[in-house]
Order: sequence, then structure tokens, then C-alpha cells
Amino acid sequence: MAPSRLLGIAITAVATLFLSSPGDAYKTQQSTSIFSFSPDGTGLQLGGPSLAPEIRVSPEDFPGVIRVANDLAADFGKVLGVNGTVVVADWSAAISSSQKTTRPIIIVGTAGKSTLIDNLVATKKVDVSAVANKWEAFTYQVAQAPWAGKEDGVFVIAGSDLRGTVFGAYDVAERIGVSPWYWWADVPPTKRQAIWVQNSPEARHTEGPPSVKYRGIFLNDESPGLTSWGHAKFKDSKYGSPFITDFYKRIFELVLRLKGNYVWPAMWSSMFYLDDENNGPTATLYGIFMGTSHHEPMARADKEQGRFLKGSWDWKSNKAGVQTFMQEGATRSRNWSTIYTLGMRGSGDAASATLTSASLVEIIKWQQSTLTKALGKPLSEIPQTWVMYKEVPGYWQKGMDVSDDVTLLWSDDNRGNIRRVPVANETNRRGGSGIYYHFDYVGSPRNYKWINTIQLQKTWEQMTLAYDRGIRNIWLANVGDLKALELPTAHFMALAWDRSSFDDPGSTTEWLTDWSGRQFGEAAAAATSSIMTTYGKLTARMKYEDLSNTPFAFNAVNYDEAELNYKEWTDLLTKTQAVYDGLPSATQNAFFEVVLHPVLAGKTVYEIYTKVALGAKYANEHRISANQFAKDVQSAFAADSAITKRFHSILDGRWNHLMDQTHIGYNNWQEPSSNSLPRLTTVTTAAAKDTLMGVTAQGSTSAFPATAKLSLPALSPFTAPGEQRWLDVYLRDNGTLSYKITSSVSFITITDAQKTISSTAGGTTDSRALITADWAAAPRAPHPQPSPHPPLENPTALPPADFKGHIEASGVVSIEAEHSSQSLSSKDYTIIPTYGRTLSGVRLPTASASQSPAKGPVLVYPFFTFTNAASASLTFYLSPSENANPSSPNRYSFSIDNGTATTVQPVPLGNAGDEPAGWSQAVIENAYVKKATLGKLAPGRHELRVWLLEPTMVLTKLVVDVGGLKTSLMGRGRVFW
Ligand SMILES: *[C@@H]1O[C@H](CO)[C@@H](O)[C@H](O)[C@H]1NC(C)=O
Ligand SMILES: *[C@@H]1O[C@H](CO)[C@@H](O)[C@H](O)[C@H]1NC(C)=O
Ligand SMILES: *[C@@H]1O[C@H](CO)[C@@H](O)[C@H](O)[C@H]1NC(C)=O
Repeated sequence: MAPSRLLGIAITAVATLFLSSPGDAYKTQQSTSIFSFSPDGTGLQLGGPSLAPEIRVSPEDFPGVIRVANDLAADFGKVLGVNGTVVVADWSAAISSSQKTTRPIIIVGTAGKSTLIDNLVATKKVDVSAVANKWEAFTYQVAQAPWAGKEDGVFVIAGSDLRGTVFGAYDVAERIGVSPWYWWADVPPTKRQAIWVQNSPEARHTEGPPSVKYRGIFLNDESPGLTSWGHAKFKDSKYGSPFITDFYKRIFELVLRLKGNYVWPAMWSSMFYLDDENNGPTATLYGIFMGTSHHEPMARADKEQGRFLKGSWDWKSNKAGVQTFMQEGATRSRNWSTIYTLGMRGSGDAASATLTSASLVEIIKWQQSTLTKALGKPLSEIPQTWVMYKEVPGYWQKGMDVSDDVTLLWSDDNRGNIRRVPVANETNRRGGSGIYYHFDYVGSPRNYKWINTIQLQKTWEQMTLAYDRGIRNIWLANVGDLKALELPTAHFMALAWDRSSFDDPGSTTEWLTDWSGRQFGEAAAAATSSIMTTYGKLTARMKYEDLSNTPFAFNAVNYDEAELNYKEWTDLLTKTQAVYDGLPSATQNAFFEVVLHPVLAGKTVYEIYTKVALGAKYANEHRISANQFAKDVQSAFAADSAITKRFHSILDGRWNHLMDQTHIGYNNWQEPSSNSLPRLTTVTTAAAKDTLMGVTAQGSTSAFPATAKLSLPALSPFTAPGEQRWLDVYLRDNGTLSYKITSSVSFITITDAQKTISSTAGGTTDSRALITADWAAAPRAPHPQPSPHPPLENPTALPPADFKGHIEASGVVSIEAEHSSQSLSSKDYTIIPTYGRTLSGVRLPTASASQSPAKGPVLVYPFFTFTNAASASLTFYLSPSENANPSSPNRYSFSIDNGTATTVQPVPLGNAGDEPAGWSQAVIENAYVKKATLGKLAPGRHELRVWLLEPTMVLTKLVVDVGGLKTSLMGRGRVFW
């Protein structure tokens, strides 16, 4: 909050914070653990120095349970230094062998499938009633005196089905100290002297069923990174793909450790089912449902078409050929766990010229009848999905008769904005709804496939919307190469597993802190969480690939926008490097891969573009430091390559080739063939005699001596904290000079008013003088005044003492959306902390119905102006949310001073298959920016009222311009709230 800058006057330049967040404390299932790592006198010991458990599995159980028992045995080994052993034994053998072992016993099994579990249930030694017959649930507890002759307890992990049991085992593994990311992100297992579990009937841990039935990832856009890495790491298949079973075992294990169950395989140059004949059966053994991407129906890869399809990929002209091809996909996969992608698009992930709604109805009906025959099951038992991607919703919108058993897999706009929530009769389909969501993309307006650019709060906002609007059957995230997107992937899977842990909008930060602690240690948890929250905010301002647009999006002149934005990056890097330096060396690789690398690499790319833009301004001012900036840019460009090399070198090249993606110098949607430097501007001419000194003022595009009179933005007591007023004195050529700045009035203070600057080694060629006013001594100056002193806004007509709200500074009232004065309950509006580009976002609760114009929950923003504005305007900054409910598009109403309300629909309704007008700019800037004219606005007290009418939209910021607003990306008149 801005404290009063008006000394001795009782007025507070503060927007009061009355909105409240929902009261529920963040609570994860993760946060309750029944394990401990030192004896407490009552627990059952599961391991100690040279003591590891014997893990018992029933021979009738799923092979995937025996497999995971072996992982659990090895996980105990990672923690304790001594491996557990797996014994596959039926009940009587288990009892008799228990007489022989003095080791702790763990029983892992599936209720109804494991005699070990079922006998313990029958003798009431364990209680599985909370999970029995449920989808993917598990429980674990100690069974006391489980059978005659066994007086102490055994630890029992019981699942409701194959995956329930697998998740139970992996949940225990994570809690004893093995991160799901131990392999993919080199997170070191926690070393422990001993492991204990609470030993009482109440100490039981139960999870599941999951919030979302099918949850998983799509490996996509997998070249150059993942593919080149794979070639070096795995044996290529006979078709040349590195994505063989040894690779997929690592993927399946990760997905299961994240409590997911669904994978779309890499497909740019791969054929999952053919690259390794073990791929299909291995997925089934592990318990993974395989799918194929949105345009690869019937479990057949796109790349199979070139080899096996007779004729063209066109239903209209080659129905028989296409049917034979699809039929083979169904037959081949009939014994494997598969979610069948249905429907069809044109060849090679493009719209088709010949498909119609009618032909798609025919295709899906044929696909379904083919599946029921090939699998010998009713449709209701075959998971199927039809992906509403790109143009496909256009067919659907025309009205189609598609069996209820198909899950409609809605999509985002490839930039993280859900295009559609289910409406009307779409909400009660047997097959339900799903969402195909992107953390990586190749396509217009720009690819983003280099490193992480995901703001977790945005994922939270969109995915809670999806869930709350009934999208609960499938969540599938495009995770690119997977590497670099570990964090968004982990977050997405956690949300899909247990939506109820994420009720509170603040849960994102708390989850992140918890997650950071689990990967990098408790000591680094809070700092890492704060780092990645800031990282998400900085990347939300603009993705790296979009930075090459000209002019540079961050304004190099106004509000010091480019400079301050870059400073946030350098501050973040300093903080991140300090955390890295303080970590145990065993944890540094993981931290580098997930946290330090993106911060370092991101800062470096921002440095390049920021210093190019500032360098151009400096060169224009004839500042010789422009030349230093050019050198800095060249160094940053070299550093960028060195950072990639560093990534490649860790652990002897373990991740070689990942991050090979080009990312500097995009000039169209597709990546450049190599990184290239933007054009640099330097000072090459000597300065004229006696013009060694240059001076420029903040916000000015010209400089002395070219301009004799410089103007500074007015000083105001109402400027936000952090916003400075400055003059830069600099060298226009090599040399040395001393200067002195004096003020003709005593109420102005100038820092660094007297200094020597020099181009000699060790000297500084630029100096910044900060200018502040003593408002108690400053004269009243209702409007900016010309010389003799710097322009002042020290108004006479002050807000009344009881005024609480926003106050004009420099002709602008800038309001963060959460700073409503209205005391509202969370039933009315939800604040999403750290959402978007500046502070936060505000939306209606997801369950809200559409509101009528200027009715329902209102946001109230009192503000006070000094300027007599002839034509004021009001700019709304909204998230780039789509009109996800086509019959009720996003709208808001607003009124000024209780006048007639105006209602605005910020995004036009496009055709169902197309993105709306203005979409590209909105996703690049991560905001819809909508300006309304207000006409005359007299000085004094005002009130802005805003109603959001749809829960699918988020308001982040409001700016009232009474004549002083300057161009900038983020519309700030106030820099840091
Ligand atoms: C423990 O198990 C792992 C994984 O199976 C294996 O690589 C390792 O050699 C085993 N350690 C010992 C001491 O047997
Ligand atoms: C759902 O509603 C649409 C539009 O009213 C209609 O065309 C379609 O037949 C309905 N579908 C079902 C399964 O009732
Ligand atoms: C300033 O001196 C440096 C180093 O001698 C030289 O490279 C540069 O060209 C000079 N700058 C100008 C504007 O003359």
C-alpha cells in the first residue's frame, strides 16, 4: 500500500484491502504423514541401518503390483542404503516364511486380487472399506498381530485396483524420501537412519479416488531436445526412433509416481506401437492407459500412415483404405489398456478439406462399432475420446449425433486458455468431458518449446474452472520434452489427483512451498517457492519467443518499464543463486535443472532484448554507455550458449541435447534455424567540442545538449513506492568530467548531485541523480508547473480526511483489481494471489451463474482526481480468457459515480473453430486490454463500480487516464503496489 507522502496531513493514499480469501486453510493429503524417522517408542520400524523390509506380494496379484513392489524395495535402498527384498508368496507361504525373518514385513496388494490382503481383511486385521471397489484408491496402515505367531505388526499397503495399489506403494516411497523426480530431475533421495510408521488402528492413510479419472501427459514437439537426447541415450528402433521401451518405462514410472495414468506418446517421428513391440504391453503391465494424439484416431500413429495406409488419408475418397488402417489399430491394441482417440482430421495435424459434420458422425459410428467388435466389449466399457481441437468444435457446434460414451476432450487455445466449458446437454454425457491443455506449443503466434513459461496460478485458475464446470473425465497436458516442464507437470497432476486440496486460491503458493521442500529440502522450500512464483509472474508478462517483436514490448522510456522489469530478473537471479550456493551439493543438480537454469537462462534472454532496446535509446542520446550495452548484449548472447552447454555438461552429459531449442530471434511463428542477435546500436561518432556532458530526464526521449530544456514527469506525493524521479548525467564521448546539480529551491533533494564521471578504466560513464521533494515545505502546485523547480503536483484540493481509495498521480489512477474497497465475501469474488503480470487477479467463484449486466457482486473502487479532464478514459486489463461459454460470452459492466452502467464484451464471438479477433495480441501480452472513453471527469471524488458477469474471466487491473497516461505494456502509472 502506498503510505501517505503528505507529511502532517491526515490523509492516506491507500487502497484498502477488504476482499477476503476463502477461509479454508490449505490442506493436502501430502501434509499428513504417518511415517517418522526416529523411534517414538510406539511405532513399527520399517527400516534402519542395514535393515530393510521384506515386501510380500501375492502371486495372483497384477504383474504390475509385483513390478511396483520391486521399485519400493529399491526405494527403501535409496533411502536406507540397503535394498528391501520382494517375496512373491501366497498366504501360507507368507506365514511360514515370516517365522524365518526378523526383518520388517510390508504387504502390498490389491483388495479382491491378493490373498494376502483378502485374508487380512477377512480376519479384520486391516480395513479396506474406504477404498474397496473404488477407482484408483489406496490405504495403508499397520496390521497388528496379523496371524498366529506374529506378535508385532506388518505394514499393509492395499489398493482398490492395479493403479490404486501402485499409487499406494509410490506414495509410501515419496514419503520416506524418494521424489517422483529422482530420475527425471536428479532429485536426491533423502538418506535416513531409520524409518518408522505409526502403529495404531487410527493411524491409517487413505487417498483416492482421484478427482479426474484419466490424468496424464503428451510428449510432443519433441525435437530437437528430447529426440536428440534419446538418440544418445537409447538404442534406436528399426524405424529410427529412440522412444523404445527402456525410454517409456521411465515415463510410465514417473507418471505413476505422480499418480497419473494416461500418456500420449511422442509422435513427430515415432510410432509407439511399432518402435518397440514391448511398448504396448509394457504400458498395460505398468497400468498406463495409452492414447494417441488428437489427430491420430484408433490407436495408430500418424507416421504409420506413410507406411501402411493404402491410398490417401481421406474418408470421402478413400473410405475403404482408411477403414482398413483404423481397423488394424483397434485389432492390434485389443488386449492393451487404451483410451481410443476417435474422429478424424485432415492429413498431418491439419484441418480437412472434405470432412463435414455428417461424415464425422459416420466416422465415429463406424469407429465405435469396429471397437466393440475388435475388443468384444460394449461401448460403455471402452474408454474413448474425441478431441475438440482447433477447427473440430466447428463441426460439433453445427449439431452432431455422437454417442454419449465418447468423452468430449475440449481444448485450450494452445496458450493455456480453455476455449470451451461443457454446456447444456454436454454436461451429462456418460463419457463426460476432458481437457487437452498446453504447457508447450508449436504454432501461431509463436512456438514456446524452449524452457518453462508457465504461471502455476494460471494453471490453477483454468483447471479449477474446468473441474468445477464438470471437466472431470480426462486431463491431458502437452508437456513438450518433459524436461524443463517438471514443475508445471507436477502441479497439474497434483490438481488432477486431488482438486479438493486446491480450493483456496492461495493453495498454489502453498503447494509450491511443499513441493519445493520435498525436492530441495525444507531449508530451501520457502525461498524456492517465492523464486518460482516470481519467475511465473515474469514469464507471464511475455514468453521468451515473443520478445523479438518490435518495438520491444516493455517501454524503454515510460515508467522505466523495461529497466524495472529487467531489474526484477537480476534481483531474482541473485536470490536464486544464493539458494543454490547454500544447498548441499547433492541437491544442486536438481535445483539447477528446475529452478536456477530457467531463472539464469530467462534473465539472459531478457537481458539481451532489454539492453538492445535501452541501447537504442542511449545511442540516440549519444551516450557512450550504449557501446557497453552492446558489449553486454554480445556477452549475454554468448552466455546463453554457455548456459545451454552447462545444462548439457551436468552429470557427465546426462541431459545432453535437451534445451537445444533455438529461442532468440524469432521472426515468425516458427523457430529460427539458429539463435541470432537483434541489431545493436552504438555510438560511433565523436561528440562535438565542449559537449562531453549529456543529460537526460526520466520519461524523456531527448537529451541535453540536443535539447536545452528537459522535462521531468511531475513529482507527486501520491506516486507509488518504488517509482522514482531521476536525471542521468553521462559522457557523450571518451573523457572525464565533473558536474554539479543545484536546485534553485530548498525543498528539492538531489542525490549524487556532485560527481566525477570518466571513461577511464574503473570509471563510470553514467550517473543517476534521484530527485525528491519535501512535501511539508513544497509550495502548493495544483498542476505541473514549468521551471524554476522540477514540476510538482502538490494539490490544494485534497481528498477529505475520511477518503480511502486511489489517488491520481501524473494524470493517472492505476488500480490493481484486488484493491476493491468493498468488503466482499469470497462467495462474491475470489482473489487469485500472484496471478498475471503485476499483482493478482479477481474472478467470480467458478460455480457462479452468469450475471446480468450491472447486477450481482460488485467491485467498488473509490478514486480521487485533481485534473479537470476533458476526455478521460478507463482501461480494463483482463486475462486472455476465451468465451468459454458460447451462449454467454465474457462480459463486464462498469459505472462511474453511479451513472448509467456500460456493459462490454471484450472478446468477440468467433466461429467455433477459429480464434477470435485480437487473440494473437492478447496471448502474446497475456491480457485483453479494453479502453472505454469516460468523457469529462471533474476533479474530486469518484467511484468506479465494476461487475464481472462470467466466472470464466479474470480482471487484473484498471487504469483511469485523466490526461497523463503514457504507453507501456502493463499500463502502469504506479509501479509497485
Ligand atoms: C538395490 O537395488 C537397485 C535397483 O534394483 C540395484 O541397482 C542395486 O544394485 C541394489 N543394491 C544392492 C546393494 O544390492
Ligand atoms: C444436445 O443438444 C443439441 C443442441 O440442442 C442437440 O442438437 C443434440 O441432439 C442434443 N444431444 C443429445 C444427446 O441430446
Ligand atoms: C572510446 O575509447 C575506446 C577505447 O579506447 C574506443 O574503442 C572507442 O572507439 C572510443 N569511443 C569513441 C566514441 O571514440
